[in-house]
Amino acid sequence: MTDKIRWGILSTGWIAKKFAEGLSVLPDAEIVAVGSRAQETADAFGDEYGVPHRHASYEALVGDQDVDVIYIGTPHPFHKDNAILSLEAGKAVLLEKPFTINAGEAEKVIALAREKGLFLMEAMWSRYIPIIVKLRELLAEGAIGEVRMLTADLGFRSEFDPKSRLFNLELGGGALLDVGIYPISFASMVLGTPSRIVSMAHLGQTGVDEQAGIVFGYDGGQLAILHTALQTSTTIEATVMGTKGKIRVHSAWFYGTTLTLSIEGRDDEAISLPYEGNGYNFEAAEVMRCLREGKLESDVMPLDETLAIMQTLDTIRAQWGFKYPME
Ligand SMILES: NC(=O)c1ccc[n+]([C@@H]2O[C@H](COP(=O)([O-])OP(=O)(O)OC[C@H]3O[C@@H](n4cnc5c(N)ncnc54)[C@H](OP(=O)(O)O)[C@@H]3O)[C@@H](O)[C@H]2O)c1
Repeated sequence: MTDKIRWGILSTGWIAKKFAEGLSVLPDAEIVAVGSRAQETADAFGDEYGVPHRHASYEALVGDQDVDVIYIGTPHPFHKDNAILSLEAGKAVLLEKPFTINAGEAEKVIALAREKGLFLMEAMWSRYIPIIVKLRELLAEGAIGEVRMLTADLGFRSEFDPKSRLFNLELGGGALLDVGIYPISFASMVLGTPSRIVSMAHLGQTGVDEQAGIVFGYDGGQLAILHTALQTSTTIEATVMGTKGKIRVHSAWFYGTTLTLSIEGRDDEAISLPYEGNGYNFEAAEVMRCLREGKLESDVMPLDETLAIMQTLDTIRAQWGFKYPME
């Protein structure tokens, strides 16, 4: 491995561009290659982000000998095959959320990475945002006592377009897998895997979940109360409540910069952690730290937890009788 970690970007859509922008603030990162389904889009991306190798197929990208790690930013139904293609070519992988369409697919991808001894991580970027790192520290030091309950949401109003990735079943549409996964992953980070799940969704005219409410229960009686939407803007806040106080991560909590620590009997403390970059730089930095240390997964977003989250998503969809056509 050279001094810089050499990235290959698989796909050229909205998030691939954001991720490339995020990498630009990391001096030890370099985008050496991009792969697209067409030469034209690979070239346009290459021109915009100064990428020297532009491949007209994902196969050519993963075969590029100058690439250390592949970032995958395709719609969710393609995550499994794109990740397997990259791992089979011997590349480390950062795979967009949701990791796959379901837990069965996730198991296959994780098993292959472990068999080949290659690094693999779900791109749950909110875990590495400084204010969320601070929240974990506060919880670990018992700042609010024992956690008893949390609330978290992520929903936004998007233009209805039945062909778009968000509303099209063939492209893995629906709120749960696109944005509901953020509050679900947040609850997993704070309270672990739930032992009880109740949920309710509204399925819209294309059959995808347009909004949902979800409650998790844990063995110690803790509760997580979550909601998600893609036709309704929600407050996008996360609050963790404990026996001594609460922590409120302000909107938009999943990439935010401020929280308020409220301890009973004391003045509220506002904590602000502004950051450089667009937020995607932190997950990329974690990947590079792991690669340099020879680690095969991140302790902050371990693969067993990624799999447990996919199983939780499967359970929720089963409660709604919701299956994707490719399942
Ligand atoms: N972490 C985040 O904040 C965040 C934000 C948005 C989305 N995401 C995740 O990123 C993934 C992509 O979302 P996006 O909003 O970037 O989607 P998008 O703008 O539609 O881009 C997806 C890209 O995937 C490639 N692709 C391959 N097969 C495709 C197909 N059959 N149809 C459409 N595109 C195909 C295309 O790249 P080429 O034409 O170059 O092959 C396309 O540009 C989703 O899994 C989503 O959950 C994450």
